[in-house]
Amino acid sequence: MEQQILNKYIEAGKIAKDVVDWSKNLIKPDAKTLDIAESVENKIKEKAEIAFPVNISINNIAAHSTPSWNDESVIGESVVKIDLGVAVEGYIADTAYTIDLTGKYGKMLEANKAALENALKILKPDLKISEIGKVIEETIKSYGYKPIENLTGHQMEQYALHGGIAIPNVHTMDSKTLKEDMVIAIEPFATDGIGSVIETNKYEIYSLMQIKQVRMTEERNLLNYLEARKGMPFAKRWFKAIPEVKLNLILQDMINRSIIRKHGMFREKGNGIVSQFEHTAIITNDGAIITTL
Ligand code: CO
Repeated sequence: MEQQILNKYIEAGKIAKDVVDWSKNLIKPDAKTLDIAESVENKIKEKAEIAFPVNISINNIAAHSTPSWNDESVIGESVVKIDLGVAVEGYIADTAYTIDLTGKYGKMLEANKAALENALKILKPDLKISEIGKVIEETIKSYGYKPIENLTGHQMEQYALHGGIAIPNVHTMDSKTLKEDMVIAIEPFATDGIGSVIETNKYEIYSLMQIKQVRMTEERNLLNYLEARKGMPFAKRWFKAIPEVKLNLILQDMINRSIIRKHGMFREKGNGIVSQFEHTAIITNDGAIITTL
């Protein structure tokens, strides 16, 4: 990888780590979810671009959850996952952590952290991605919990959060291998539920599919904004200046025309509690650099 590009990835990773460390103090039972989301995103914006809306997922919610513009909820005594992304000229660092405010899930978090650490340790070129899933699955199960089988880590490319291969969290038959210079996010999820998620019909996160001609001025403005973000995902609440009825119409029209797609919030199928830890890794000739550590 060109040194210049490597430097951007490392810079993004360092910013992401700093925001993670800073954000941990915000996670309190009486904190408003919306305030945390806006604080974290503003903190990222001081130094870089937001690669995707910060995900704040509580208890049995696993991912793709971000508050709506008028969300009044507080964190409560819950298991909280914060998943955030930083982009430096499109080079992304994606990282997540869990805080247990109930005091009851320490062992699950420990299992989840160990699974991530064990996976990061084996990264190198030519490693089968199924081996990563195997290590994650075995580690989490050894603590008596289940990995979420249908959520995966992912490869990243410039401005593309999910580019290329998916990194399984369970042992699969996948024969794909890691290659030098690949940038990947490893993100195991642990649960005391069934071990899979279902997509709900709560939609707050969207992403660009393709640019097409649009009619309304507001649609054109929104599309220009998405184009400037080079397709990186966005939150509906970022457009709270547009009256909601109108915004809903615009979003639906753009979905119908396959300009954007919506990402439904993921809930654990058995309503188990879910934890998540994630780091970003760059595969090098003899191992990996973990940018968000
Ligand atoms: Co990720």
